[in-house]
Amino acid sequence: MTIIIDGKKIASGLCEKLSQRIDVLKREHSIFPCLKVIFVGNNPASQVYVCNKQKKAESIGISSETIVLPDNILENELIEKINELNNDPFVNGILVQLPLPNHISASKVINTVSVEKDVDAFHHENVGKLVKGEKSCLVPCTPKGALHLIKLVETNLSGKNAVVIGRSNIVGKPMFHLLLQENCTVTILHSQSKALAEYCSKADVVVTAVGKPNFVQEGWIKEGAIVIDVGINSVSIEGKTKLIGDVDFNRVKEKTKAITPVPGGVGPMTIAFLMINTVIAACLQKKVDASDFVS
Ligand code: GUN
Repeated sequence: MTIIIDGKKIASGLCEKLSQRIDVLKREHSIFPCLKVIFVGNNPASQVYVCNKQKKAESIGISSETIVLPDNILENELIEKINELNNDPFVNGILVQLPLPNHISASKVINTVSVEKDVDAFHHENVGKLVKGEKSCLVPCTPKGALHLIKLVETNLSGKNAVVIGRSNIVGKPMFHLLLQENCTVTILHSQSKALAEYCSKADVVVTAVGKPNFVQEGWIKEGAIVIDVGINSVSIEGKTKLIGDVDFNRVKEKTKAITPVPGGVGPMTIAFLMINTVIAACLQKKVDASDFVS
């Protein structure tokens, strides 16, 4: 029997524990974690994500505000706003929801966020630290959450074959580095890769983030593998809109040791680790030890 990994329950447990830690930080260190989310435009999917982030933050004692800006905002106006938040000592975490409108350079905006407040960990300095394996850096939330789930099933990943499908800066690339740090032999597959099934069939761990419904097939997966599905695809089934992942879940689950569902797998973990990153950022800024936070 495969383990259907209940990301919602695991994320909820992490947030509950974090909430208790926040109480202690407030009481004993006068640290009041504060997260600002910048949302440009009105992309409906982003609107849902941003709203969920804010609600979770407030429910566990992180003060949070979503700053909504019009989609015709100029790049330098957005940068000015970020600099204002960078200079505000009461703000610990800044997240700019992506995607941004085409006339704005996402790279320029991301690299404006101060390294210490970069709770997404997309700033090139944080990316560099992750690549070099530095211990005390902020790490992108989704891959961090995915790794947490993998490690709940398999504590020792050393020498395991891992395949990451997708090479985005948000998921695929950081996931590659996190698995490498766990001493996995990691292969990254992407749109130009050949023989995907062949690579996947040797993998003890498969993480997929490509945004293609039912992309990963039963025949690709080794018996007893751990499959983590980061894909979120909106599809219409019998006239109803449903969210499904990249994995042909019902078939693939027959072969796995453990698998994440969509929804209810990695999604809630992203938010939990955003909360954790916000608290870690606050601790780093106030020089309070954050090493015993979930890593
Ligand atoms: N859009 C999709 N995923 C993410 C994420 O993890 N962070 C941000 N800022 N935007 C996103």
